[in-house]
Amino acid sequence: MRTPLIAGNWKMHGTIAESEERVASLLPRISTAEHVDVAVCVPFTALQAVVDSSRGSRLGVFAQNVHWEPQGPYTGEISVPMLTEIEVGGVVVGHSERRQLFGETDKHLQLKVPAALSAGLQVILCVGETEEERENGDTERRLRHQVQEGLEKVETDRLGDVVIAYEPIWAIGTGQTATPEQAQEALAFVRALVADRSKEQAERSRILYGGSMKPDNAEELLALPDCDGGLIGGASLDVAQFTAIVEAAPRA
Ligand code: PGA
Repeated sequence: MRTPLIAGNWKMHGTIAESEERVASLLPRISTAEHVDVAVCVPFTALQAVVDSSRGSRLGVFAQNVHWEPQGPYTGEISVPMLTEIEVGGVVVGHSERRQLFGETDKHLQLKVPAALSAGLQVILCVGETEEERENGDTERRLRHQVQEGLEKVETDRLGDVVIAYEPIWAIGTGQTATPEQAQEALAFVRALVADRSKEQAERSRILYGGSMKPDNAEELLALPDCDGGLIGGASLDVAQFTAIVEAAPRA
């Protein structure tokens, strides 16, 4: 049995003060939820504060990007040892905003994923097609490329440790979700891609859905056979909405 993961992606929202306030309000609300893992992906400057204020709780604290080299001439980048030094637990990589707006490529992800994993960070690798790719029937081709490249340098026995978030780009921040049929088809396809490397590892893989997941659609999406949780953007900034999604996960 795979424990579902509900991860909030705060994106570029939250000064240290705002992040501390949000986490202080979130922690008591999630303290009793069972059979679900919960994490938040926090802006770099607020990571230390959120790690400190959630220490000893069940909340995972993740970064939103990482470089693959431990150090070097990479202005503006943050390395794996910089994250582990402050006890960050994981990182989300390959988000479509980073791919589309900041030029992150599958080749970068091929290096980032194993670098983060081998240092003990949990990794959420995001994949997903554009609206145009879906309309042209290119969804599977796109997903195959992203999943295969992103996992290429991950050792077989670690494949199941990589969380993969399927996020159709047309559903991110738009209020438009994939239908349960579309979501299940893509999630199952992603799992099958992992199974091409190892069936056993694919059974361990947690595949999340992301893209306008809200309290009113979460239960239906989380109940899909291949859905092991959600990556939540907008609704993760609202503690009541995020909590409602966390509570929906074990029910689904
Ligand atoms: P959204 O964002 O929930 O606001 O659609 C999801 C994401 O970008 O991970």
